[in-house]
Amino acid sequence: MSCRVVVGAQWGDEGKGKIIDILAADADIIVRYQGGNNAGHTVVIGEDEFILHLIPSGILHKGKTCIIGNGVVLDPAALLEEIEMLRKKGIKVDGNLLISEAAHIIFPYHKVMDKRRGAKIGTTGRGIGPCYVDKMARCGIRAIDLVNKDSLKKKLQANLEGSAEFDIEKIYEQYLGYGKKIQKYLANVPIVLGKAISKKKRILFEGAQGTLLDIDHGTYPYVTSSNATAGGALTGTGVGPTMIDKVIGVVKAYTTRVGEGPFPTQFKDDLMEKIRRKGKEFGATTGRPRRCGWFDAVIVRHSVIVNGLSEIAVTKLDVLDEMEKIKISTSYKYKGKTYRDFPADIDVLANCEPVYEEHDGWMQDTTAVKKYKDLPKNAKAYLKRLSELLDVKIGIVSVGSKRKQTFKLKSYI
Ligand code: GDP
Ligand code: IMO
Ligand code: MG
Repeated sequence: MSCRVVVGAQWGDEGKGKIIDILAADADIIVRYQGGNNAGHTVVIGEDEFILHLIPSGILHKGKTCIIGNGVVLDPAALLEEIEMLRKKGIKVDGNLLISEAAHIIFPYHKVMDKRRGAKIGTTGRGIGPCYVDKMARCGIRAIDLVNKDSLKKKLQANLEGSAEFDIEKIYEQYLGYGKKIQKYLANVPIVLGKAISKKKRILFEGAQGTLLDIDHGTYPYVTSSNATAGGALTGTGVGPTMIDKVIGVVKAYTTRVGEGPFPTQFKDDLMEKIRRKGKEFGATTGRPRRCGWFDAVIVRHSVIVNGLSEIAVTKLDVLDEMEKIKISTSYKYKGKTYRDFPADIDVLANCEPVYEEHDGWMQDTTAVKKYKDLPKNAKAYLKRLSELLDVKIGIVSVGSKRKQTFKLKSYI
């Protein structure tokens, strides 16, 4: 398999960083294709925890090429900070990082706008949405413009004309400075990837956010502003659809969501606290407590379809170790009607009653399990049931945040 896409199959924070880190061992190139530093991907190596916001999680493996594609919105200050953080921890970035010349740049005015307007969505306030708005409105400023004095000046003037709030000259100087620092990373990414594919290099596409946060396929308007789904890997890098061999969905064994928006299987207070504490469910980017709930097969089935998932990786199974009973939502009921498929109408999602099936828990510690066959009987039954309900194979199971707490399944469930 040479080109594999990894996507979040719920509302983000499924453990994509960890799974990418595992799969990166068998890849040459790892590419981020959408989102920006709204993402927070955690990788734990030994006692060290790394949280990556912009740079692909593959950077933690020696000698891998990491690429930020055109679909990403890039805050240069955040990028430089991340490079510095990695350097301090002894991770080599120079020579291993490429940035698309066509990636759109986040400016201070995007962040101000996001903080003003993003509250009802509960955005991360990183300027992501307003930057994509400018991209679509065709007045965005791209990475290549940061190394072209005239172009940067003209575009900033056009965007900020008449605004007393922002000092054009100051922003211009600041961003020219960023341009000088990031120039060495800039590349024509479609050409780089095209050549790599013809040389049979193994490429891993690292999705950010999750399917239900996708601008087209998510719980609109409570979504992010990019295509977090597998299609984004194509438009966000310049690789054609015939090149993709596999799409892997990362699925948490229960559900979480940060920010506003409907969440049918959300727990009541007591269970919320228990799972939040056990699963350490606090945002890797903003530190906000994540909302937690039961596994929702309706939304993940939707992910299987819109991403064309070849298989899934189930993470955080260990977080359910102390649950006597575990529920899975298999459909929703709303105004007397049963919904087995994901409803486009946000009112249905916001007001429906989930229909649950209940399973016996396993009440056993799974964090030291190394093979599928050694999982408790009820944990195996839970995974089997997920696979059945979702109509997709499970290829990887994760029972802790560390690398060794992961096993690939020899034969798929
Ligand atoms: P991402 O945004 O999808 O990369 O996920 P985050 O990094 O935001 O959140 C996932 C969190 O769960 C991180 O703190 C991981 O270290 C942790 N994690 C990943 N897999 C497992 C697992 O199988 N069990 C437990 N207990 N924690 C995990
Ligand atoms: P990773 O890659 C979870 C959520 C925000 C908010 C909505 C819109 O770590 O899984 P935005 O700032 O993107 O305009 O916010 O999307 N959100 C995430 N939730 N994981 C993420 O990324 C997220 N990135 C954005 O909380 O509800
Ligand atoms: Mg995250």
